[in-house]
Amino acid sequence: MADSKKLKALVEAAAKARKAAYSPYSGVKIGAAVLTRDGTIYPGCNVENSSYGLSCCAERTAIFKAVSEGQRRIEAMAVVGASEDYTSPCGACRQVMVEFNPRMKVLRRGADGYSDDTTAEALLPSRFGPEGLARR
Ligand code: THU
Repeated sequence: MADSKKLKALVEAAAKARKAAYSPYSGVKIGAAVLTRDGTIYPGCNVENSSYGLSCCAERTAIFKAVSEGQRRIEAMAVVGASEDYTSPCGACRQVMVEFNPRMKVLRRGADGYSDDTTAEALLPSRFGPEGLARR
């Protein structure tokens, strides 16, 4: 399991990624980072589009970067936003998180000092997951 030094680096990576947020439409800047089983950190930010519905959240950007590099086992994720409201992953991101590890730690950090440590499964109770499909 990830040690506290790695988790600190994870939060720092998410805070750095937040600076890259492309959000000219909402003005909301969110950074995320995932830590994979081999200890690699993949950062991501929200990326908006003039066709608003095409925007991608920071959490999914980071997860898709890891998975597209062959890293499917995600141990932990950090989400950094301005405050509590902006570190609460949307429903779509919660569903993508549990796909790759319901037990992943989720470290939520606000630039205003807000801090909360939770897990993907706690954020998405009664989830639909791959195990449900296997029982078809
Ligand atoms: N956003 C995220 O990056 N993560 C979330 O979990 C919620 C929302 C982004 C998407 C959009 O660019 C902006 O915040 C406003 O919704």
